Amino acid sequence: MRFPSLRFLAGPALLALALTPVLAAQQTAAEKTAEQVFKNIQVFKGRPASELRPTMSFIASSLGVRCNFCHVQPFSADTKPQKRTARRMIEMVFAINKANFNGRPEINCFTCHQGHTEPNGALSIAADAPPAAMPAGGRGAGRGAGRGGFDRTNLPTAAQVLAKYEDALGGAGALAAIRSETMTVQQAMMGRTMTLHMVKQGGKFALTEGAGRAGYDGSRYWSWRGRGAVAPAAGEMATELAIYNGLYPAAGLDAAKARVFARVPFEGGKAYLMAARTANGFVRYYFDASTGLLRRIITGTPTYLGMLPLQVDYSNYQSVGGGVKLPFTMQFSNHERTWTQTVSNVKLNQPVEASALAAPAGGN
Ligand code: HEC
Ligand code: HEC
Repeated sequence: MRFPSLRFLAGPALLALALTPVLAAQQTAAEKTAEQVFKNIQVFKGRPASELRPTMSFIASSLGVRCNFCHVQPFSADTKPQKRTARRMIEMVFAINKANFNGRPEINCFTCHQGHTEPNGALSIAADAPPAAMPAGGRGAGRGAGRGGFDRTNLPTAAQVLAKYEDALGGAGALAAIRSETMTVQQAMMGRTMTLHMVKQGGKFALTEGAGRAGYDGSRYWSWRGRGAVAPAAGEMATELAIYNGLYPAAGLDAAKARVFARVPFEGGKAYLMAARTANGFVRYYFDASTGLLRRIITGTPTYLGMLPLQVDYSNYQSVGGGVKLPFTMQFSNHERTWTQTVSNVKLNQPVEASALAAPAGGN
């Protein structure tokens, strides 16, 4: 399944069967382990079940293949030799990281495979060397920006960068006066467009796409396909929903947990690169050094092997009334694809029914 961008809501989820137990296991007090949820787990024993699916996406993308490169139905079967080879490779990667990197996921499938089933071990002619295809681990992303351009002199503090950002959006007073927000979002992906309706109020939000809905109820991310039970959102879907949380991008980011690392080249200008620690590792923020506006977030979904990256680029900041500016264009990029969201019809402080924010009744 390639959920990002709410494909999950839109249609029959590929592998819904494999996915459902993962969703059910997510966010319970004591999360189930992979072997408690899946049938034939040998190398991933003891790890959280909810991270199995993103881990499979990580592996497939690293090798440039689809699930059926290793799997036949049922997914627990060990029919294909590729699946058995993959197990050996996973053990090798865990052993390398344990022996050399204190268990940190420095080496992963992408390190060698670079999008191919058979790694090319030969040195390439410099002129032909391809640029690194994707920021595989969370850490690679920062390096991809080009270490040479990093300037660490006279950096502002995280609190100063966030204060300038707030001012650029309209100032603390104007932002505090926003009680609710509704907007329409046109999403274009792979030649198709869909319309999302988004409602935000009081630390909660909900979005509707066709019959499907998803949101945040103040304590957890949920999703509903328009039938059946409401499920906690997990994996890449939870990562994407977290991007929508808050009345403006990166709202609620705590300066005490963030640090400015460098001034880096960014689209012809400069940006401050700030990193903040979250439960899932680091999230990177790029703030325009001259305007103060947030231009990019790089976050990720944890897997057993490293982070599956998600980058969001913000542009086209426009006034939405009340002295406030918000970005009207968001470009999302992950390990597989890019898609664009265009905002319209933003309304601030319209009355919002409680039902517009609640997960549908009958769910868990
Ligand atoms: C390169 C090989 C490879 C690819 C590609 C791959 N998998 Fe896997 N998959 C594995 C291995 C190996 C295991 C068993 C892990 C273990 O033993 O702990 C596994 C286990 C699973 C399981 C658990 C099955 C069970 O009940 O035991 C599911 C579900 C799964 N994969 C789904 C997927 C999906 C969905 C994709 C495509 C996004 C995918 N896999 C791509 C190698 C692969
Ligand atoms: C240190 C480098 C390295 C790393 C890291 C690595 N591989 Fe490999 N992998 C190889 C090489 C080299 C081959 C080709 C071996 C051969 O041809 O006998 C290979 C082959 C494979 C194959 C067989 C491909 C085929 O065509 O049948 C699979 C599947 C595979 N790797 C999965 C993985 C997975 C999954 C990971 C991450 C958990 C991983 N590899 C990490 C080097 C690596």
